[in-house]
Amino acid sequence: MRYILVFLCGINIALAGEAPRKKLNDGNTIPVVALGTGRGTAHDKPVDEVRDAVFWAIEDGYRHIDTAVLYNDEVQVGQGLADAVRQGLVSRDQMFITTKLPSDRHARSQVVTTLRESLNRLKMNYVDLFLIHFPFSTKNDGSPDNIDYLETWRGMEDARELGLTKSIGISNFNASQVDRLLANCKVKPVVNQIEVHPAMTAEPLVSHCQSRGIAVMAYSPFGFLVTRTRHNSTTPPPKIDDPVLVKIAQKYGKTTGQIVLRYSLDRDLIPVPKSTNKARIAENIDLFDFKLTDDEVATISRFNQDHSVFDFSIWKENIHFPYNKA
Ligand SMILES: NC(=O)c1ccc[n+]([C@@H]2O[C@H](COP(=O)([O-])OP(=O)(O)OC[C@H]3O[C@@H](n4cnc5c(N)ncnc54)[C@H](OP(=O)(O)O)[C@@H]3O)[C@@H](O)[C@H]2O)c1
Repeated sequence: MRYILVFLCGINIALAGEAPRKKLNDGNTIPVVALGTGRGTAHDKPVDEVRDAVFWAIEDGYRHIDTAVLYNDEVQVGQGLADAVRQGLVSRDQMFITTKLPSDRHARSQVVTTLRESLNRLKMNYVDLFLIHFPFSTKNDGSPDNIDYLETWRGMEDARELGLTKSIGISNFNASQVDRLLANCKVKPVVNQIEVHPAMTAEPLVSHCQSRGIAVMAYSPFGFLVTRTRHNSTTPPPKIDDPVLVKIAQKYGKTTGQIVLRYSLDRDLIPVPKSTNKARIAENIDLFDFKLTDDEVATISRFNQDHSVFDFSIWKENIHFPYNKA
């Protein structure tokens, strides 16, 4: 059922199921929930599942899809959107598509070419947001390269100037990299997409970005709620049946997954939940008829252990590696 809904904490008005939009520092607006399509958790499944996932997501009101060259699924994202447009569910200009530049294409001259290749796969004339996926560069074989992300950013500005992307941003940049970029850019990044969830709240980096007008997209927003094949049973709480989360979920008549996504929204983050399951895709955007209290947000933040779901240490020798090397 579709009806007009006033978003609880602001002036945004949206159709039911559709995420409100947030204004970016370049004046464009971004839907505050994105469907994640990176399938690090499900690489054993056929990539064609992404086509259906994108279509179902649009049916459910998602207007923002997150992809990347690295995910090898831009073709399927484009197909899912084309299916939805063909069936009259949306037009291209109602959608917000994010893709990302891989680390082995960091030379300024490669940025526009790489985005054009993405657009060919997506079958689109432009994306809404183009991100540098990681601040460090690699050679084709994955070994470290030494291209400075400031050079890469010039290429990002070129791509925006050409109208191939409406907005440009970064991902996995740490606080000092954010500041160095801000001091040396013509166009400010609109977004930093980083890992944020209850076991990795990233409070210093989140407030660093937000205080500089950079919106934060939260990837892997479920953290260790879900089973991650690369981790063993020693992973930190909270899990999906954590009593603290269950209590909050019961209060609002929601699932613990929804509570964790609402936690992102109530920290003014843009969560990027990945699912290829029809019911869970619907569940993950059914977030706009409740709001956590400040105390509940603080309670969930207390799970923090700065514990990443990823092990990026294979890149730790790269210049501009953004994380603690320990
Ligand atoms: N910029 C970067 O470097 C970067 C890095 C990592 C990820 N990302 C982006 O962020 C997205 C999300 O990250 P992620 O895939 O690592 O983690 P995630 O979204 O936190 O977790 C995905 C897992 O949760 C399951 N799931 C989804 N909804 C659920 C629900 N309501 N209840 C229980 N389980 C649920 C999914 O399974 P089902 O599919 O079976 O539902 C999948 O196994 C990626 O897809 C990608 O777009 C970006």
